[in-house]
Order: sequence, then C-alpha cells, then structure tokens
Amino acid sequence: MMKMLGDIYQDLIDAGALQADDAQLTVLPEFDRIRAALSVPVKKGLFRKAPEPPEGLYLWGGVGRGKSMLMDLFVEHLEGIPARRVHFHAFMQEIHTAMHEVRKTGVEDAIAPVAADVAASVRLLAFDEMQITDITDAMIVGRLFEALFADGVVVVTTSNRVPDDLYHNGLNRDLFLPFIALIKEKMNVVELTSPTDYRQDRLGGQPVYFTPINAEARAAMEAVWNDLAGGPGEPLILKVKGREVELPAFRNGVARAGFHDLCGKPLGPADFLALAEAVKVLMLDNVPTLSRNNFNEAKRFVTLIDALYEAKVRLICSAAAKPEMLYLEGEGTFEFERTASRLREMQSEGWGL
Ligand SMILES: Nc1ncnc2c1ncn2[C@@H]1O[C@H](COP(=O)(O)OP(=O)(O)OP(=O)(O)O)[C@@H](O)[C@H]1O
Ligand SMILES: [Mg+2]
Repeated sequence: MMKMLGDIYQDLIDAGALQADDAQLTVLPEFDRIRAALSVPVKKGLFRKAPEPPEGLYLWGGVGRGKSMLMDLFVEHLEGIPARRVHFHAFMQEIHTAMHEVRKTGVEDAIAPVAADVAASVRLLAFDEMQITDITDAMIVGRLFEALFADGVVVVTTSNRVPDDLYHNGLNRDLFLPFIALIKEKMNVVELTSPTDYRQDRLGGQPVYFTPINAEARAAMEAVWNDLAGGPGEPLILKVKGREVELPAFRNGVARAGFHDLCGKPLGPADFLALAEAVKVLMLDNVPTLSRNNFNEAKRFVTLIDALYEAKVRLICSAAAKPEMLYLEGEGTFEFERTASRLREMQSEGWGL
C-alpha cells in the first residue's frame, strides 16, 4: 500500500517543516489519483491492452504558493514509476537539440522520433514552470505533446498561468491554440488557491542586500540559497535570438550568478528580459563599485535592474557598497540614481507582491 500524500504532508507539518495550508491539502488527492493509476504495472501482451493512462495535472497559481514543493513531494514518492522531473524550459531546449540532431540524418519530421525517444524511457513527465514565450517552442509543442500523449505519457506540470493565457499575445498564436485544447483534454486543470506566498514569507524581514563583500556576506548568501532553492542548482541556458545566456545555477525558480556572469558579458536588454521572465528570484554575487573604468558593466547592470524591477523579480545580492554608494563618478551617474532607488525599493519587505 502506498502511503497517501496527505499523510506524508501531515508528517511534514508535524515535523515543523511545513505550515498547514488547506488549499495545498485540497490538491494532494489529484497527485494520489495519478500515483495510484501509474503504480499498476503495464503488462503489454498479445491479448492484453495497456490500460488507458490517467489524466495528467496542470497545477497553476500565483508565485510562491507551493506548486513546485507539492510536485516535488509527489515525484519523491513515485516509488519506482519511471518518471522525469525537469524544468520545462530545459526540457524544450533538449527537444530542440534532439530535433536538430535527427534532422542532420535527413529525417524531415523530427518531432515523431524525438517524442518516441522521450516516451520510451518514462511514463510520467513532471514539468516545473510551464510557460511559452518563444515562437520556436510555441510552434512545436502541439505536435510534440500530441505524440507524447499518444504514446501514453502522463504529464504533470506547474504554471503561473491558466492554460488559456499561455503564450499570451504571442506571434502566430492561432497556430498555438490546439496545444491549449490538448492540455484541457489530457490534463486536469487545477488552481492552487493558497492565500500565502511562502517564498515572500521566507524572505520577509530578512536582509537581501549584503555589503561589504566579505566572509559574512558570502555565508549569508549561501544561507539564503539553501533556504530558497533547497538543494544544489543546475545551469539554466536561455536561448535569446539565437544567443545563449547561461545562468550558472538554477533551482526551484531561484537563479544564482556572479556579477560578471551577467554584466561582464555582451548581454543586452533582450537577454535580461528573458532572464527576468524565467526566474522568480535572482541571487547576484559580488556587485563591484562602478565607475568610468567599468562603464559597460555599469550600463548592463542598470539594464538588468530595470528588467528585474519591471518583472517583479526578487533580487538578493552581495555588493561592494550600499546602492547609493555603488556608482559615484563618471558618465551615467544620473541614470544610476534611478537604479539605486530601485535597488532600495526592491529590498523592502513586501516588494514584488
Ligand atoms: N505549506 C508551506 N509551509 C512552509 N513553506 C512552504 C509551504 N509551501 C511552500 N513552502 C515554501 O515556499 C517556497 C515557495 O514554494 P514553491 O517554490 O513551491 O512555490 P511555487 O508555487 O512553485 O511558486 P512559483 O510559481 O513562483 O514557482 C518554497 O521554499 C517552499 O518550500
Ligand atoms: Mg515553482
């Protein structure tokens, strides 16, 4: 007998690891439904038809409500069901790479073999943060998931948007609409209505700007990472207009990079906007003082902060000086006043809500 997720959840509350949340509790039976259906072994035989796979789950809702946490709880308790949990963006990147390889062999319809390959190794795909912003993704997801579902793959995903709002205002959106219909057909769409943003709760009242850069600041940044990301990160590569922007560490909506990873490379507004769309929290290490000697880095930093600010991404950083003291001389000091003010505002409790 599998232990029900509601009981596992209760154990975590009793242990003080989680706060009781009725809205979270309400969606757990959805995960149990899928676990139960998938725990029946598939015995394909001459006279036996594989059982119809269960409906998947599309769990959506506001930031920090616990969607990823619940999905992880589910994935950790699959007890041998072949599954893969992957960030949606990273998965799509793999798909594009695999399709590119297949095309090299002269195959025209690359989606079918790539989907077959994915389906051969898993019964369940658990995606974190399904969102479609890129036209190259938008134009293939319909046929890709059609093929995956046809092969019996069950899909569970988290998202910040209701399916009808996916690829909102995207180019050629009418060609994307069949994917929305497919989601509604193959997945149960459930909103996680928890009133609490737990990520905000965790950050509430805590310092998020550490200066100067010393052992204490480094230790504080580590502590924040461990609390918010909850484990080792993996690189996240964003494709922007054919370029690749690499975030060295990413986990559970939290990205971490050094100042030079982002501001020391020839990145521009489009890159920072893509970054701001892809993450909920950016941890930026080692922001130096800025001057005419590192004018380009300073300019990029201003652009980065603007992008984060507009997208309401939380910023946690270690810096050589307080915001007002970061950029004291040289061209651009005037523009930097706004950046400093935004940096201040972004530190305040409740910012981004
Ligand atoms: N009931 C709870 N009690 C305590 N902490 C919680 C609870 N639910 C979630 N958390 C914590 O709150 C943080 C945010 O949760 P999570 O990442 O699952 O949110 P999310 O809904 O996936 O947000 P997003 O849409 O931004 O990805 C995590 O650190 C998570 O462990
Ligand atoms: Mg999440």
